[in-house]
Amino acid sequence: MNVKINIAIDGHSSCGKSTLGKAIAKKFGMRYIDTGAMYRAITFFCFEHKIIKDGEVDLRKLKLQLPNLNVSFRFNATSQESETILNGKNVELEIRSHKVSSFVSIISQIKAVREKLVVLQREIGKEKSVVMDGRDIGTKVFPNAELKFFITANAEIRAKRRFDEMDKTKVSLQQVLDNLSERDEKDTNREINPLKIAEDAIVIDNSDLLQEEQNNLIFEIIKKKIESYN
Ligand code: DC
Repeated sequence: MNVKINIAIDGHSSCGKSTLGKAIAKKFGMRYIDTGAMYRAITFFCFEHKIIKDGEVDLRKLKLQLPNLNVSFRFNATSQESETILNGKNVELEIRSHKVSSFVSIISQIKAVREKLVVLQREIGKEKSVVMDGRDIGTKVFPNAELKFFITANAEIRAKRRFDEMDKTKVSLQQVLDNLSERDEKDTNREINPLKIAEDAIVIDNSDLLQEEQNNLIFEIIKKKIESYN
């Protein structure tokens, strides 16, 4: 791809943003960045360093540790997947745990955390050719992204899709739905950089779309955009 553009993907939890981001990256030779993984890595760090104790965040301790904290991504050639690296350690598995999922929306409300990650995300995107997914990419991180998508789907359908990928002996469908609804609520109503639809975003509700149908629709939009710059 000669034309270099950034693509922002925002939307509710568990509506396939990361699968979509990876598919776009593969199709158009771009770099995919999962910003949710960055908030998850900080949440994991907080548990590991007892910054979260008895369900409370020790803000003073967190702010002291933040400057020493680095989150990056490494491409694993064997699995062909990007792995989340926290201070040099691969934490890709740990950050997907139910424990981290249950607390990440609390950590992502903290101003100092958001400020740090937005700086890192802008740094990653400055060379362009990046497709980044999250909640505030089109509104805050890359307000000038050449293309913005806002992805959503019915909450019950999202919960069922996520549940089907999980170890069903460890978690129930109701727990997944509750966690997801709570995250939607927190993401949408938080004070700093809440989840909202950017004015120039293209909204896609994929409740009734097959993954392939959604991807084809989006690929066409991207192709047209790229052609418009040629
Ligand atoms: O995309 P995800 O479900 O892995 O994201 C985990 C949490 O991180 C989610 O509850 C919202 C938060 N998040 C955020 O606040 N801003 C982003 N850009 C990405 C994720």
